[in-house]
Amino acid sequence: MDIRKAYLNFFKNKGHEVIASSPLVPDDDTLLFTNAGMVPFKDIFTGKIPRPNPPIRTSCQTCIRAGGKHNDLDNVGYTARHHTFFEMLGNFSFGEYFKNEAIAYAWEFVTEVLNLPKDRLYVTVHEKDDEAYEIWKKHIDEKRIYKFGDKDNFWAMGETGPCGPCSEIFYDQGSEHFNSDEDYMGGDGDRFLEIWNLVFMQFFRDEKGNMTKLPKPSIDTGMGLERVVAIKEGVYSNFDSSLFMPLIKEIENLTKQKYEYESGASYRVISDHIRAVTFLLAQGVNFDREGRGYVLRRILRRAVRHGYLLGLKEPFMYKLVDKVCEIMGSHYIYLNEKKDFIKKLIKLEEERFFETIEAGTQLFNTELENTKEIFSGEIAFKLYDTYGFPLDLTADMLRELNLKVDETKFDELMNEQKNRSKKSWKGSGDRSKQSGDFKDLLTKFGKNKFIGYENLTSNSKILAILDENFKEINELKPNETGWIMLDNTPFYALSGGQCGDQGEIYKENKNEVLDTQKFFDLNLSKIKANEILKANDLVNCKVSPSRELIKRHHSATHLLHAALREVLGTHVTQAGSSVEVDKLRFDFTHPKALTSDEIKKIEDLVNREIFLAKDSKIEIMNIDDAKKSGAIALFGEKYDSEVRVLSFGDFSKELCGGTHVKNSAEIGSFIILKESGVSAGVRRIEAICSSEVLKFTNNLRKDIALINDELKTNEPLKAIERLKNEIKELKNELKNRSNESKLEVLQINGVNVIISKFNGDIKTKIDEIKNSYEKVVTLLINAKDDKITLAVGVKNAPIKAGDLVKEVSKILGGNGGGRDDFATGGGKNLDKFEDGLNFAKKYIKEKIL
Ligand code: ALA
Repeated sequence: MDIRKAYLNFFKNKGHEVIASSPLVPDDDTLLFTNAGMVPFKDIFTGKIPRPNPPIRTSCQTCIRAGGKHNDLDNVGYTARHHTFFEMLGNFSFGEYFKNEAIAYAWEFVTEVLNLPKDRLYVTVHEKDDEAYEIWKKHIDEKRIYKFGDKDNFWAMGETGPCGPCSEIFYDQGSEHFNSDEDYMGGDGDRFLEIWNLVFMQFFRDEKGNMTKLPKPSIDTGMGLERVVAIKEGVYSNFDSSLFMPLIKEIENLTKQKYEYESGASYRVISDHIRAVTFLLAQGVNFDREGRGYVLRRILRRAVRHGYLLGLKEPFMYKLVDKVCEIMGSHYIYLNEKKDFIKKLIKLEEERFFETIEAGTQLFNTELENTKEIFSGEIAFKLYDTYGFPLDLTADMLRELNLKVDETKFDELMNEQKNRSKKSWKGSGDRSKQSGDFKDLLTKFGKNKFIGYENLTSNSKILAILDENFKEINELKPNETGWIMLDNTPFYALSGGQCGDQGEIYKENKNEVLDTQKFFDLNLSKIKANEILKANDLVNCKVSPSRELIKRHHSATHLLHAALREVLGTHVTQAGSSVEVDKLRFDFTHPKALTSDEIKKIEDLVNREIFLAKDSKIEIMNIDDAKKSGAIALFGEKYDSEVRVLSFGDFSKELCGGTHVKNSAEIGSFIILKESGVSAGVRRIEAICSSEVLKFTNNLRKDIALINDELKTNEPLKAIERLKNEIKELKNELKNRSNESKLEVLQINGVNVIISKFNGDIKTKIDEIKNSYEKVVTLLINAKDDKITLAVGVKNAPIKAGDLVKEVSKILGGNGGGRDDFATGGGKNLDKFEDGLNFAKKYIKEKIL
């Protein structure tokens, strides 16, 4: 039975309009994800938009409960029925029918379409909802109706929004299968399974918790598809149903282990999470460091870690996407269309996590040894920050051990980091949080005008003077610092990553402009006065020539951004930038370190655009047109309705309020100095252009000259090669000498006895030793690969070399012999090496003494 179809048809026949599932990302800032079937209809319930015609609808809505008010993430895998992603069947009435019909329809569908036995069904109502109680009595034996309070029988979409009392239908899975202490109606056991929730929408709750009546009492119902499928298939866990089992089988194929229900939480986690991940990616949510993308990352990483526990040590989640598409693709066609792209994204994200999971797990285990009840918040933060372990992943790992994490400390460190990163980035540049007389200035003068796109000098009037705390003052005296507001200013205020201008203003004398920033859209310059400056003074302004380099670095940043997208892919998005006089810094999303080949390609591409001498084009456009035209806008950045769009030919097109070159050739040339990681999934490039490149190469030249001087050559590479060879030879010699110096010389009865392991040319060494002593017996022995070689040399001593070698070789499982003064031999019994040596020592001693 196709339950989705049966449900939608049933309500269609009752006059409902069938509505397709809305996106998982709702058009509602108060919600993380669509978490119920009613979400897309919120504004109809509240009367914000008119009732549709007909005012009754039905849908099968995809939902995610992994964050926010309805968050099931922690339970997934450990219960039979919690999911991050699930489908909710629902029927909705916007002020048309109410409890009577809603209850009658539900009863009819459950008993006549689903054909569930009546003696297995129970219902609950809100303890104060006598009306619902009475209606239910018409359908079901009173003994089967239970009353509960707000906790169980009041439903709300989120902290704010439509809400109301509800009535739930339960299915009894049988005491023969479930008989724990919690298996009673209202208990935490699995026996009584809630299958359908009928919400009698009557109120709207605002931010303060106040409840007001909705324009019309309405109906919102939700039936979990997964549960009903499980019941109809006669299995006791959603995971045993045809929606999940094929996935679990696929995981079995990967782990090569059998899934057992008792120990199978990890299988369930993975089979649940891959559905959520696949659907979110298919609907355009991407892995991110915050917001919905971060929840997506948390879900994936939680699953990966469970795979890791099952022994999967390399990316595997992406291999499950095909199965999800097979199970769900006929109903959700878009899954198949995006399958390959989804797999690629998942694989990249898995690779990113696998790079650190091993080290992170080790750090976790080490800290575990020091943990009694509460796991360190510092380490949890380090796991998050350095190893990419989301906090709830660490909490999940601890939960398996009945431990908790110090979340307070974690949050403290997280906030500190957020503040730090805010400081280190220039962002929009508007210092609106600063307190001062800005509001008064805005009222008096309005915004002042920036004229510095075209002019680097101006005759301007001082409108106001402020002290360092932004309080308006009458004047600045020589040597004092404060801020001035000019009517028209050529000084660029820090924003869009571009640093604020410096320069000079002249009344009579020169006064220094130290910095320029924006406060509530007011452009103010920080001044070190050299004469008395007052409001209404007329001044000549001159922007520092350093602006020239700043703008070149800024234009180079745009070319770099475009080049990164061309070489690495369009997943690259800007995560921060800083444009200074002497360098630029650009942070962007990318899963792994760049190869030197990629860096070279990017650098070459930027230089190609510079050499092509492309004119820059500035257009003022409506924001929507700008985005439509393909201009890159920063996600999450607030733009005015009119925006500036800067392009260099077809290569680069971005929204930008900064200052730029007129032609790309002005940038001169471009060099990437460094590529590094900032955090998981974010890389940083530091680069220079124009005269900074010249400065850089001149310094290199100087260094090379110094190196040549030191090496006394014009060919440093050859000289280095020579030095390397010399070092190698010296090292070898040192090794030989140290071998030699290890030879211990014993004196017995005036005879020098040298018995030693020796790794070199034994024969030559024995000759050397014999030349060095008047009376000597020496045995050198060497074990290499699986063979032992030995040689004995005798000079003026009562020992026959041949005899000694023969005896020792015998012990070593080989043979040997030779003259009285020199003999060689060996064997294969490496384990007899020490026996052979000991025998030789004893033999020599006995013969000489
Ligand atoms: N909106 C109700 C729920 O999600 C039906 O349970």
